[in-house]
Amino acid sequence: MIRLKHIFENNRAWAEAMQKEDPEFFHKLAAQQSPEYLWIGCADSRVPANEIMGLMPGEVFVHRNVANIVVHSDLNCLSVIQYAVEVLKVKHIIVCGHYGCGGVTAAMQHKEFGLIDNWLRHLKDIYQRHDPPLDSITDEHDRLNQFCEVNVIEQVRNVCHTTIVQGAWRRGQELAVHGWVYGLTNGLLKDLEVTVTSAAELDSLYRMEPKPKPSITTP
Ligand code: CO
Repeated sequence: MIRLKHIFENNRAWAEAMQKEDPEFFHKLAAQQSPEYLWIGCADSRVPANEIMGLMPGEVFVHRNVANIVVHSDLNCLSVIQYAVEVLKVKHIIVCGHYGCGGVTAAMQHKEFGLIDNWLRHLKDIYQRHDPPLDSITDEHDRLNQFCEVNVIEQVRNVCHTTIVQGAWRRGQELAVHGWVYGLTNGLLKDLEVTVTSAAELDSLYRMEPKPKPSITTP
């Protein structure tokens, strides 16, 4: 039986070091988590949310998938957003892509990868719709990195369009949605400065009015 012994050794050493620094650390965390941030990032092993942001366990709620895509029919992602917003009451949702993303690269190509092609279709749709056309960028490296940024901007909008985020804003909950990109080659985050903090900033088609209250008729 393969037991991945070195991982358990690492884990024990880490837990001991954490406990040494703060003997109450795990007790406090076990009792409650109150992160201020929800991170929606790529599943890429080189883009770990906590490490990049210099945050401790308990400080960021995390959802990761291939190419940090937010689809309004993805129950997994929506459930994470709902829990983060409505229960944890995070103040910031960060969509963070990264330059040189393999998922984004694959979406620009014609190779068949199997099931994942259905997921990457969301990216092809973004590529196809983008104006000015991404094809007009002749340098392939620049085109890929531009596409990585465009994808983040699109996913920020998708987060904002959810009933969950719009509902939070309607209730007066403080919530900002940010778009960032991470550089694999320098370890630095770049703010794309597309932060949205209210429904008023959305395209009107996607803005939802409050549900009308059911009228009660007395018999
Ligand atoms: Co990626």
